[in-house]
Amino acid sequence: MKGLLLVGGHGTRLRPLTYTGNKHMLPIANKPMLLYGLEHLVKEIGIILGPVREGVVELLGNGSRFGVAVTYIDQPEPKGLAHAVQVSERFLGTEPFVMYLGDNLLRQGVKEFVETFNEKKLDCLVAVCPVKDPTRFGIAELGKEGEILKLVEKPKEPKSNLALIGVYIFGPSIFEAVKKIKPSGRGELEITDAIQMLVNDGKRVDVEKVNGWWKDTGKPEDLLEANQLVLSDLKESMQGEMDQEAEATGQLSLGKGSRVLGRVRMRGPIIVGNNTVIGPNSYIGPYTSIGNNCTLKNIEIENSIVMDGSRIEGGSSNKRIVDSLIGSNCTILDSDSTVPRGYKLIIGERSYAQI
Ligand code: G1P
Repeated sequence: MKGLLLVGGHGTRLRPLTYTGNKHMLPIANKPMLLYGLEHLVKEIGIILGPVREGVVELLGNGSRFGVAVTYIDQPEPKGLAHAVQVSERFLGTEPFVMYLGDNLLRQGVKEFVETFNEKKLDCLVAVCPVKDPTRFGIAELGKEGEILKLVEKPKEPKSNLALIGVYIFGPSIFEAVKKIKPSGRGELEITDAIQMLVNDGKRVDVEKVNGWWKDTGKPEDLLEANQLVLSDLKESMQGEMDQEAEATGQLSLGKGSRVLGRVRMRGPIIVGNNTVIGPNSYIGPYTSIGNNCTLKNIEIENSIVMDGSRIEGGSSNKRIVDSLIGSNCTILDSDSTVPRGYKLIIGERSYAQI
């Protein structure tokens, strides 16, 4: 079955991290987010690209590195998920396909959904999951037998908490449905409305609940939670070097050329990329991902993501860095080591600091 992976959109809620690149390239446990989706899809994958393309084509190329064939499909304006289906019609042809929103992480993958779709000979299968805030999602209202009564995009007064998580399987009847719908209040052709159209037309549409965890990564705190979920499954790997003085407990993955120097306490799960130096006098706490070519000295940090090329050097009076997202090539230094002492901040538009 062909796959359609959507990596367009502006990622406005993740600014400033998304000012300089595609949101789907942000790392979760040191891996660009879109690879989690790509790995669930097989053979032929259409990548829907919006205007923010940085890094995606460089990473995926023709897909052969990942054992798949990739076709890039342009969606120059973000006119909605149903519009993304429309622009992919030629690539998709008449076979069923999986559509996967690239900012979703789904532990179980899509295999079971594909099996159900085939077994039940469906026209559409929608993966759903109960959520705390149904107003942020497309929502499925089900009847007593579990049949779909209604699908509503971001309802103001939700009648159900079952969210459409961003994983769908469609047969070719979806192309007719997307032609029939009109733009929503936010000016987009909503895939939720197209699926409702299939229901209205008496097509076989079913929902399937997600097993295990699913995380959508719209906001900064979602990235940290996704990072926690992925790191909970981290496999131990020691390709770097650790001084004898350094102590590690829990799962730790230390990349090639990385070194942990002097008195350092690492409490996993922690992933560290390649050629990064940590220590001395540092504590790296659980659920922390540190990228490639970073330097971390004299600091305490936990439940955070530090992206490639960043340098953090603390002093004795610094507080622990917690729940933080530090973009690539950032520098954070101790203010006690220079005069006048104080906070010196050079931070871009929409940055956030709590000091
Ligand atoms: C989109 C869909 C929505 C779905 C959500 C899942 O919303 O329109 O139905 O529940 O993805 O992440 P958007 O991310 O465009 O707000």
